[in-house]
Amino acid sequence: MTKAFQINTQLVTQSRLDQTDYNNLGFGKVFSDHMLVCDFKDGAWEKPQIIPFQNLSISPATNFIHYGQSIFEGLKAFLSTDGKVRIFRPEANARRMNISAKRLCMPEIPEEIFLEGLNELLNLDKKWIPTSEGSSMYIRPFMFSLDAEIRVRPSDTYRFMIILSPSGKYYSSPVKVLVERQYVRAARGGLGSAKTSANYAASLYPAKLAQQRGFDQLIWTDASEHQYIEEAGTMNFMFVINDTLITPALSDSILAGITRDSIITLAKEWGMKVEERNVSIDEVLKASENGTLKEAFGAGTAAVVSPIVVIHDNGKDYNLPAVEGRIFSARVAKELSEIKAGTKADSHNWVTVL
Ligand code: COI
Repeated sequence: MTKAFQINTQLVTQSRLDQTDYNNLGFGKVFSDHMLVCDFKDGAWEKPQIIPFQNLSISPATNFIHYGQSIFEGLKAFLSTDGKVRIFRPEANARRMNISAKRLCMPEIPEEIFLEGLNELLNLDKKWIPTSEGSSMYIRPFMFSLDAEIRVRPSDTYRFMIILSPSGKYYSSPVKVLVERQYVRAARGGLGSAKTSANYAASLYPAKLAQQRGFDQLIWTDASEHQYIEEAGTMNFMFVINDTLITPALSDSILAGITRDSIITLAKEWGMKVEERNVSIDEVLKASENGTLKEAFGAGTAAVVSPIVVIHDNGKDYNLPAVEGRIFSARVAKELSEIKAGTKADSHNWVTVL
């Protein structure tokens, strides 16, 4: 790709890489040496810059702190055995970010700033990409409003940034989920399909209550009847009932997951029947009871393919089939991992190789 613009780069004087413990990365706790910053002022995006990773200095009146004009993305990069950086579906993230921007009344970020900025940043901090099993360079692009004014209105100024976090797995073991029938993550007409901070804020208290009861995550249900499955907040839900892959249809209260889309694409190519439709909790629990529910898992960038082992509803645990016997989840997890690593042909052109 020829560059549409030059990115001004200020390098760190001393890398922190050799002080980083790659045996204890965790998820999203460690950050690489540099970050990308690009401001929107007077109706236009300025030139992006790469600078050393550092704290921000902003006014306490900054709009996003008070009114939440704040969106983000999550994607991953890997290092192949021949030393090349491989980014999984960055164009899809750039597109989704602009869908979120529109819903939050924010300016769209030009895709070349998102994509070329990311490529340059990753090339610079390539040595930070972890290579152990299940690890990746988690990439967090985000944008927030910058006006310092306490009046409720869309800001005139914004900042787009990308930071890089060498990370391990988000869920290190299979997950137990609780069906949420009281609280709501997102209602129709709300923000649910935008990747915006407010959706995550809405999930924290109910998720904490569930965690206190020993569950890792919630199955959010629809806001009006609490009958139909939405998503987990950290991932989309997928079920294999008999031989069909079933997942809630997208709506304006569900995030359009890129991993969800990749899995559906692969399943269809493998000749599997796929249904995107309303999925009721009752249908899934009945299938669990009569033995037709073969697999249940969450799909997300951070979560990848996370097997669900217990669904809890109305005081009852539904124990799902053993993870070892799950043929589709294992196959799709392996396929995605090999495409990302470059050990399997990328026939969908999902991977950008730097
Ligand atoms: C992602 O999967 O990239 C997300 O943003 C979800 C978050 C729980 C880390």
